[in-house]
Parts: sequence; C-alpha cells; structure tokens
Amino acid sequence: MILFAAVAAVLCLFAPGAHCASTTIPWCYHDPSCNDSQWATIVPQYCNGSRQSPINIVSASATANANLTAFTFDGFSSTSAMKSLENTGKTVKVTLNPGVRISGGDLSEAYDTLQIHLHWGNGSSVPGSEHTVDGKRYPMELHIVNSKSSYNRNTTLAVEDSQGLAALGFLIEELKDTTGQPAAWKNLSTLLSNISLAGQSVSLAAGISLDDLLVGVNRSNYYRYLGSLTTPACNEAVVWTVFKDTIKVSKDLINLISSSLHINDSSSPVMVNVFRNIQPAQPVSTQPKDSTSSSTKMGFSLGLMVLGLMLRWI
Ligand SMILES: *[C@@H]1O[C@H](CO)[C@@H](O)[C@H](O)[C@H]1NC(C)=O
Ligand SMILES: *[C@@H]1O[C@H](CO)[C@@H](O)[C@H](O)[C@H]1NC(C)=O
Ligand SMILES: *[C@@H]1O[C@H](CO)[C@@H](O)[C@H](O)[C@H]1NC(C)=O
Ligand SMILES: *[C@@H]1O[C@H](CO)[C@@H](O)[C@H](O)[C@H]1NC(C)=O
Ligand SMILES: *[C@@H]1O[C@H](CO)[C@@H](O)[C@H](O)[C@H]1NC(C)=O
Ligand SMILES: *[C@@H]1O[C@H](CO)[C@@H](O)[C@H](O)[C@H]1NC(C)=O
Ligand SMILES: *[C@@H]1O[C@H](CO)[C@@H](O)[C@H](O)[C@H]1NC(C)=O
Ligand SMILES: *[C@@H]1O[C@H](CO)[C@@H](O)[C@H](O)[C@H]1NC(C)=O
Ligand SMILES: *[C@@H]1O[C@H](CO)[C@@H](O)[C@H](O)[C@H]1NC(C)=O
Ligand SMILES: [Zn+2]
Repeated sequence: MILFAAVAAVLCLFAPGAHCASTTIPWCYHDPSCNDSQWATIVPQYCNGSRQSPINIVSASATANANLTAFTFDGFSSTSAMKSLENTGKTVKVTLNPGVRISGGDLSEAYDTLQIHLHWGNGSSVPGSEHTVDGKRYPMELHIVNSKSSYNRNTTLAVEDSQGLAALGFLIEELKDTTGQPAAWKNLSTLLSNISLAGQSVSLAAGISLDDLLVGVNRSNYYRYLGSLTTPACNEAVVWTVFKDTIKVSKDLINLISSSLHINDSSSPVMVNVFRNIQPAQPVSTQPKDSTSSSTKMGFSLGLMVLGLMLRWI
C-alpha cells in the first residue's frame, strides 16, 4: 500500500531539515539494491518490526471471534465517489472524494476511506497478490485504505496509532472464458493508456461505484489481524481485513494492468511484480463457523434438558 504523505512525514522525524518535505524513501520493487530484501535496512525502525504485512493466512489456524460482525459501507454505492486515477510509479491508485467511510466489523470507530490501489505480478500467469491464503498467491490484490475518522484524514497522525489505519484486502482471481469483465474494471482499464508514465493522472467522470468494483464478494466473511503498511515506511498501524471471497477479473484485464504502466518515464521498466514478500505469521481471527446453527443446537440441547427434567418430575 502506498502512502507517500505518511512516508515523507515519517522520514522528517528522523531527518529533520530544510528539504524534509520533499524527501521520499528510495525504495522499489524491481532492483536488488532497493527491493523488499533491503527495506529492513532502508527503514529499520519499522520495516524490521515484529507485526509486518503481508502474511500467509492459514485458514485452519484462524481463531473464532464473534465480534467480527458485518461492516457498514457508507458511500460505496455512490457513482461519484472516485476522483482520479493515477500512476504513482509503484501502483495504480484511485483517490476518493470525501464522504466515503466504513464502520462496524469490530473497528473501534468509523474510518474515512481515502484511496484504493492494486498489487500484481506479471500477467495472469505470474501471480502477485500480497496476502496468500494456505500458501496460495492470487493474480492480484486490491487494497482499500481507511483512516480513523477522528484524525480527519491526517495520515501522519494515523500512522502513529497502532490501529490508526484499516486496510481492506480483496484477492483477485481469474475469471475464465470471457473478456472485459467485470464491466467496471474494464471501464477503468481503458484509462490506463492515459497514465502510462509515473506521475500521470486522469480525473474520473461519475459513473462507477466502489460496490461495482467489489462484485461477487460477501463482505461478511473475512480474516482479521493486526499488521503494517506493506510499503516503506512499513508503519505498524494497520488493522487488516482480508475477505474470503475473491473478485473475479477476466485474464485480458489482468494482463492489461500488468503491461500498461511504466515505473518512471517511457524508457523505464514496465511495472510488474509490485508486491512485498510474505512476513512472519501473526494471530488471525475470523467469524465463528456456522454461528446460527450452533445457537440453534444450543437451543435444541437446552430444550432436551428441560424435557429431561420434566420427564424426571413425572
Ligand atoms: C530482490 O533482491 C534480492 C537480492 O538482494 C534478490 O535475491 C531477490 O530475488 C530480489 N527480489 C525480487 C522480487 O526481485
Ligand atoms: C532486524 O532485527 C533483528 C532482530 O530482531 C536484527 O538481528 C537485525 O540485525 C535487524 N536488521 C536490520 C537490517 O536492522
Ligand atoms: C469481544 O468484545 C468484547 C467487548 O468489547 C470483549 O470483552 C471481548 O474480549 C471480545 N472478544 C474477542 C475474542 O476479542
Ligand atoms: C513479464 O512477462 C513478459 C511476457 O509475458 C516478459 O517478457 C517479461 O520479461 C516479464 N517480466 C519480468 C520482470 O519477469
Ligand atoms: C497532521 O497533524 C500533524 C500533527 O498534528 C500536523 O503537524 C500536520 O500539519 C497535519 N497535517 C495535515 C496535512 O494537516
Ligand atoms: C484518454 O486518452 C484518450 C486517447 O488519447 C482521450 O481520447 C481521452 O479523452 C483520455 N481520457 C481522459 C479521461 O483524459
Ligand atoms: C466508463 O464510465 C463512464 C461513466 O459512466 C462512461 O462515461 C464511459 O463511457 C465508460 N467508458 C467505457 C469505456 O465503458
Ligand atoms: C453472506 O454471508 C453471510 C454469513 O455466511 C450469510 O448469512 C449471508 O446470507 C451471505 N449473504 C449473501 C448475499 O449471500
Ligand atoms: C525518472 O526519470 C527522470 C527523467 O528521465 C530521471 O531524471 C529520474 O532520475 C528517473 N528516476 C528514477 C528513480 O529512475
Ligand atoms: Zn497495498
């Protein structure tokens, strides 16, 4: 996940000076001198921490937590929530207009939804999700970045709080035997040719909602753990939610996304394999299995006990 403002501000804490505001950490995905094998050296304060993301989620080890209730998604159905689409040089990012927020889902308060972005590998044949589930890496992963509403969209403040950010992760799977699906993904993909160079962006006309991008996912079922940003400065400030259902995207669009963007100018490499490798495991929780039928069972056995007592009295 990308948070340039936070990255710059965090660096300022360690290297205060006149040029502080324009400083960015020189990290990358593609070159051994700055790829994720070096991040713990580049930002040892955070990237070498003990609750780093992403992780491999072992589904059988996820503990049951009945507090992991449904979320409320405000503004996700709005067709004018998306403001612009940008090539950041590290990912493709949609910046959202104010007014989008999430709550519920065992979060301590409402969180403002700031931006969404993607991680990918190299086409549909080289997967590039950040989280893996039971060792499986998916073709891509969509991240929705949210910041505690009480911080008023100030990510400098949010990354100082161990739960200041809430990230929603959606694993992307290949939708077979079709092209140009889902329609909302196709729509945004046609704009990638307008932002092939780092720093380029286009305004987004009204028409597509966040819900349109999240088709086919039952957002009641998810994994939860406490982790970090997956890009430097790797701040350990993130409540992670990774949904169990995947978004299905046709192969042509997956291939287009991983072949359309340069990491800098037109002579620079094409943006591929933009994901961080797996970090040490963390405790993961999820919804209790079959909670409705277990309460039904409980009611049933209580009924039997009462019946048994009544029979004894007879
Ligand atoms: C990152 O660089 C290291 C060498 O420092 C190399 O072994 C590794 O394969 C590189 N990772 C990627 C994803 O290119
Ligand atoms: C990361 O932390 C470990 C101890 O947890 C330490 O051994 C290692 O040298 C640190 N690496 C860097 C690059 O600071
Ligand atoms: C669920 O929430 C209650 C009330 O906040 C808390 O006491 C309990 O520890 C939580 N359970 C888990 C598994 O986190
Ligand atoms: C990505 O895939 C393309 C063709 O599928 C290949 O030409 C290119 O070398 C690959 N890039 C990397 C970095 O593996
Ligand atoms: C965020 O909060 C910090 C600390 O209060 C403040 O210095 C900074 O100016 C704020 N940033 C923005 C963009 O408001
Ligand atoms: C994207 O580029 C095409 C072709 O150059 C152009 O017609 C279109 O207006 C551009 N779209 C935006 C949103 O800038
Ligand atoms: C994408 O959606 C916008 C807004 O609804 C619409 O104006 C545009 O024609 C669509 N583009 C494509 C290629 O479907
Ligand atoms: C989503 O999952 C929950 C829990 O498994 C279930 O109760 C609900 O019916 C599902 N919703 C849809 C639309 O399938
Ligand atoms: C990006 O391209 C510009 C213009 O060609 C160049 O000055 C700059 O050094 C490049 N940046 C990186 C990180 O390669
Ligand atoms: Zn991300």
